[in-house]
Amino acid sequence: MARALIPGSFDPVTNGHLDIIGRAAGIYDNLLVSVGRNRSKSPLFTLEERMEILRDSCAQWRNVQIGSFEGLLVQYAREQDVNVIVRGLRAVSDFEYEFQMAQLNRHLTREVETVFMMTGTEYAYLSSSIVKEIARLGGSVKGLVPEDVETRLRQKVQPD
Ligand code: PNS
Repeated sequence: MARALIPGSFDPVTNGHLDIIGRAAGIYDNLLVSVGRNRSKSPLFTLEERMEILRDSCAQWRNVQIGSFEGLLVQYAREQDVNVIVRGLRAVSDFEYEFQMAQLNRHLTREVETVFMMTGTEYAYLSSSIVKEIARLGGSVKGLVPEDVETRLRQKVQPD
């Protein structure tokens, strides 16, 4: 049985992430989507919020589970009995960082393979950072994130 992992910050999940998650869920028997806790970053959404949002947005795929991790990704993958890491690739600008990560993860272990999936062209320029910036500046993020995330973003940037 093929079990794969999609790791990420998901701060917050976008429709681009969901495109990759849905397509990977159609390929692998079992898919674990996990939020990485990075203590040197200050996310807009807490780890629990990001997981809750993911649980809601991924409820449509019965073979998708949500998790979280801290520390080395490959170690977590091995603990979770995962041998494939799936990452989405958007524009060429993603390549260098992704290449570095995949190479170093491969250096750390040969038991986990990284597989890349091209994002749909409609999401090629979408990122969580740009979505947060649009929301902070009062723009509409409709169509870029699930509706629940739209509401949560509005509450985060204009709390009252
Ligand atoms: O959504 P992101 O921010 O691109 O996700 C990055 C993430 C969480 C996948 C990456 O930072 C990661 O794997 N962190 C775990 C730490 C680690 O294993 N570092 C070595 C990788 S070479």
